[in-house]
Amino acid sequence: MAGLEGKVALITGAGGMRGVGRASALKLAAQGAEVAITDVQRDASDLPPGEIREEWRGIHSVSEEVEALGRRCLPLYCDLGDGEQIEGLVEQVKSHFGRIDILVNNARAIIGRDKASVTELEREVWDHFLAINTTAVFLCTKLVGQDMVARGEGGRIINIASNAAKQASAMGAAYSASKFAVLGLTQASALDLAPYNITVNAVCPGPINTDRMSYWEREQAAGRGMSLEEFRGRIVRDAGERTPLGRIAEAEDVANMVAFFASEEASFITGQAYNVNGGLLFH
Ligand SMILES: NC(=O)c1ccc[n+]([C@@H]2O[C@H](COP(=O)([O-])OP(=O)(O)OC[C@H]3O[C@@H](n4cnc5c(N)ncnc54)[C@H](O)[C@@H]3O)[C@@H](O)[C@H]2O)c1
Repeated sequence: MAGLEGKVALITGAGGMRGVGRASALKLAAQGAEVAITDVQRDASDLPPGEIREEWRGIHSVSEEVEALGRRCLPLYCDLGDGEQIEGLVEQVKSHFGRIDILVNNARAIIGRDKASVTELEREVWDHFLAINTTAVFLCTKLVGQDMVARGEGGRIINIASNAAKQASAMGAAYSASKFAVLGLTQASALDLAPYNITVNAVCPGPINTDRMSYWEREQAAGRGMSLEEFRGRIVRDAGERTPLGRIAEAEDVANMVAFFASEEASFITGQAYNVNGGLLFH
């Protein structure tokens, strides 16, 4: 895989200790990229227990890890639900690094409140999922895409979608609709940006062994008198048993596909939605 020296990547939702954003930042940095990483400032009640126990400092901890690899890193807070903050984010990254070559749209709304039948789903929850999982991906693509087009040196846009972008589940209307939309956005953007040598692709992971915060999992754990981590461990084990390759994805499995799409070797691939799911789904 060719190196990414001289390239600058912007990765959203990158503050999680075990998240895909952090794994992608470290993978791209290890291949030579400088990285800007962003996340929302979350209340302690919205952080996974492991991050609190280990005094994890989100994007600032990830930034130190990237710098330890000898690469520059710019950690910035941004609430992706706010279009003005997204504009400010892109401007700050451009003025700090002078360019953005790779955009990884990885953030998603905190899950759990969306887990409801379509007849029970709150409008506010629907709106929030569409805002963070879809509209923010559009806005980042638009603003970063404008800069890539203006510079005329090509680029890479990588959207982290999901199995749920291809196959919905019961009680998944908001999440699935928001992720199906990302695949439509990926295809249309790929066509719009192809003349500028900017590729746009999506990664569709099955379940990933991250410490994602889920209000639903927290409630279920409490109802069973279990810790969230114990309950989460059970979900990870059960989902692994249902997966042909016998385990669920690690964040690094997804980051490997991000790095491939970012590489020179992937220069002729655009508009695709590639599964990283251990054989769970084939289309
Ligand atoms: N974890 C899984 O099982 C799984 C499965 C399939 C797809 N995915 C996708 O992979 C990606 C990464 O998943 P993960 O489990 O590492 O992440 P995650 O659920 O921990 O969330 C990613 C990040 O998004 C950030 N975020 C939440 N609200 C935000 C806001 N308003 N503004 C800015 N950032 C905000 C969070 O703080 C977090 O750092 C997501 O797009 C997710 O949909 C995850």
